[in-house]
Amino acid sequence: MTEEAKLRARACRRFEDEYYVEPLESEHRSQVAGQDLAAVFAYIYRANAWHGGESAAGEGSDSAATLTVRTELPGLLRKWRIRSILDLPCGDAAWLRSLPLGEIGYVGGDIVEDIVHRNRAACPGSRFEVLDIVKDELPAADVLVCRDCLVHLPLAEAVAALRNIARSGCKYLLATTFLGLGRNVDIEPGDWRPLNLRLPPFGLPEPLDVLVEVDPAAIGGLPAKALGLWDIDSFRER
Ligand SMILES: C[S@@+](CC[C@H](N)C(=O)[O-])C[C@H]1O[C@@H](n2cnc3c(N)ncnc32)[C@H](O)[C@@H]1O
Repeated sequence: MTEEAKLRARACRRFEDEYYVEPLESEHRSQVAGQDLAAVFAYIYRANAWHGGESAAGEGSDSAATLTVRTELPGLLRKWRIRSILDLPCGDAAWLRSLPLGEIGYVGGDIVEDIVHRNRAACPGSRFEVLDIVKDELPAADVLVCRDCLVHLPLAEAVAALRNIARSGCKYLLATTFLGLGRNVDIEPGDWRPLNLRLPPFGLPEPLDVLVEVDPAAIGGLPAKALGLWDIDSFRER
């Protein structure tokens, strides 16, 4: 099967059912029952429960899955005159740190302490902090890059994360959203499902810009995985 055919088959599996959820496998779910977000994601990282081939942040952070974003993000950063990035969550920070950021400042954050310690050791020139996007005070930056995070959080925590982002001193939010998805369903922490940030319970406005990671034409017009760019002022006062 070609890479494109694999992508199409996977997208079809995910979007034929608008209530689609990819649950954490049951042996993992039983290990994290009743634990808080930090403990759940620390377990997922230690157990590689998202099956990352190259990255313990999961297969969505592997080099094939990040090809489009790696190719197109530098142009978007130039277009919006970005001088500083808060990469939250950063996971192993591999794909974003591989970009030629030049003078652009970089801070990475993740809820999992072990990830942050590993990143500090691997990239001594960069700053990494243990940060919970749902409730911690966030460092200011021109853009907060929030790729593949809210899709793993229950709706209540994802809404709380957007409120927390709105309280931050960041100017733009660049976050994963699925264009054309008709419904947002709830999950347990660590499961996966697509989210459309324009729909309830989020109701963000039309993004200022969109970086499409998976072309809808390649997957038969199904909801496209994208990064939407919002001016945080557009949802600060809600
Ligand atoms: C699928 S990975 C994505 C990482 C990175 N954004 C990327 O594109 O490679 C999701 C990451 O979110 C982190 N995470 C989950 N909940 C979080 C929270 N409340 N605050 C900060 N990080 C969180 C996990 O530890 C994990 O590293």
